[in-house]
Amino acid sequence: MKLNLLKTYTTADAILLPLFENKLKDAIDQLPATLQKQIAHLVDHKVTGKRGDIEVFHTATGKTNVSIYFIGLGEKAKLDSEQQKLMGAKTAQAIKKYKYDKVAIFPINKKENIKIMHFFALGFLLGSYKFDTYINDKKKKQHIYKEIQVISPDSKLTNTEFDELNTITQAIYYTRDLVNTPPNELTPTQLGKEALAIGKLSRQIKVTIFDDKLLKKHKMGLILGVGAGSHEESRLIFMEYKNKPTNKKPLLIVGKGVTFDAGGLNIKPTNNIEDMKSDMAGAASVLGLMQILAKLKPNLHVVGVISSAENLLGDKAMKPGDILTAYNGETVEITNTDAEGRLVLADALAYSTKKYNPEIIVDIATLTGACIAAIGFQITGVVSNNDKLYNKLETASKNCADLIWHLPLTQHFQDKVASDIADYKNWTAGVNAGASMGAAFLEKFINNHNWAHLDIAGSSWTPENTPTSHQGATGVPVHMLWELIKQY
Ligand code: BES
Ligand code: MN
Ligand code: ZN
Repeated sequence: MKLNLLKTYTTADAILLPLFENKLKDAIDQLPATLQKQIAHLVDHKVTGKRGDIEVFHTATGKTNVSIYFIGLGEKAKLDSEQQKLMGAKTAQAIKKYKYDKVAIFPINKKENIKIMHFFALGFLLGSYKFDTYINDKKKKQHIYKEIQVISPDSKLTNTEFDELNTITQAIYYTRDLVNTPPNELTPTQLGKEALAIGKLSRQIKVTIFDDKLLKKHKMGLILGVGAGSHEESRLIFMEYKNKPTNKKPLLIVGKGVTFDAGGLNIKPTNNIEDMKSDMAGAASVLGLMQILAKLKPNLHVVGVISSAENLLGDKAMKPGDILTAYNGETVEITNTDAEGRLVLADALAYSTKKYNPEIIVDIATLTGACIAAIGFQITGVVSNNDKLYNKLETASKNCADLIWHLPLTQHFQDKVASDIADYKNWTAGVNAGASMGAAFLEKFINNHNWAHLDIAGSSWTPENTPTSHQGATGVPVHMLWELIKQY
C-alpha cells in the first residue's frame, strides 16, 4: 500500500470528501472543475454533512469512473480529534467492500486546520487493517489499496508531518501483527529476533539479548521463575536508541512480553485463556516505538526493554508457595502463578533502572483483568508517581486521540504487597483494586525513579470489531508512546 501526499488530484477510483454540517459548497469547491460540473446538481438536498452521514455519487471523467463519498463530520465546534479519527475509520468500513485500487482523501475546505485531515486519514488507515497472514483463501483476505492519496493543495500538510503519519501507521500495523501472531510462532526467542531486525533498520540502535544462560548469570530469578514451566527459553531484550540526544538521562520504556499466559499452575479457565497470546502487547508496542525511532531519528536517548517468557505449567513450573529471588536480591513469595506479569517486569525494572539511571520509566503491560473490569476495553489505565510525567501522558493522549485514565496508588496498596515470610508477595487475597495492586508491586522495583505504569490489558485488544480496529490487537499504545517521547 502506497501512501502519497499530492498537491493536485489526478485520478482515483474513489474520492473521500469530508465536510461540516451545511457546508456542502465548501466541499464541492475542493473538487476539480470537471467533477464539480458533473456533481453539483446531484448532491443538493441529499448531502447534509451531519455526523456519520455518508453519501456516495458516481461520476465519470472521460474514460474513468470515480465514486465520490461525501462524509458528514457534523458541527465543526463539536469535532474533536477522537471524532475525526472515528469518522475516518467509519469511512474505511463503509467503502471496504468495493475494493477500490486508488482512494483520494480531499481536504475539507481551503483554510481548515490540517490536523482534521491528519486524524481522518489516520482513522481511515487504522480501519483498513485486518490480520490475514494465515488465511489461504484469497477471497477472504483483506483488500489492500494500491494507493491512498492525501490531497493537500496549499501544502498545509508538510512532507515531514505526512511521513510521520505514515511511519506511525506502519508501526501500529506492525504492533498489531505481532500481537495477532499465534503463540506457537511468536515465542520469546522470536521477540528477540524481531528486536534484532528492528536494530538492523538504524545504526543508532544497539540490541542486547539475555538468554536463559545470561538470565541465570545475572540472577534474574523472577523472569526465570515465570519461564520455568515452559520448554521455551525466556528473553530479556534491550534496544538502546541514541542519536545526538538532547536529553541527558535516557527515557526507559519497558514492555511485558508474556507470549502466552496460561496462568501457570493457577491455570486460567475457558473463556479467559483464549486470547492470552496478546499478553505480549506491551513488548510489541516497544518494538513498534523503536521502529518509529529508527525511521524518524529524533535526537534522543531512549532505551526499550522487553521482558519475555511463556507462562505454562510444565513439571519445572513455579508453584504457589515458592519463594523466588529477584535481580536486586529481594525475595518474592509466589501466591498466584497467574500474577506473572509483575514478576517478569520486576527483574527488568530493577536491572535497567540501575544500569541506565533513566530520567523517566514507562512500563507497558497487559497486567490485570481488574483494569478491564474498572475502565473497559477502550482506555489505558495509568498509575504514576510523578505528576509532570502524567501530564505529559495526558498531552500525548490528546495528540493521538487514544484514551487514558488515572488510577490510584496509595499507602494502603503499598502496604498490602508485604509478605509474612518473604520481602513481598505477588498477589494479595481480598484486595479488590487489582490494577492498583499490580502497580504497587512494580513500584518496589523502580528504585525511586519518575515512573508511569500503563495497564493495557483492555486497550491493546478489542474483543469485537470497532471502526478503528478489527477484532484482535489495536496497536495501542504505540502512538501515545511516540507522542510522549516527542515532548522530551
Ligand atoms: N495477562 C493477565 C491479565 C489480562 C487479563 C490481560 C485479561 C488481558 C486480558 C495477567 O497476567 C493476569 O493473569 N492477571 C491476573 C492477576 C491476578 C492473579 C492478581 C488477573 O487479572 O486475574
Ligand atoms: Mn497471568
Ligand atoms: Zn499475564
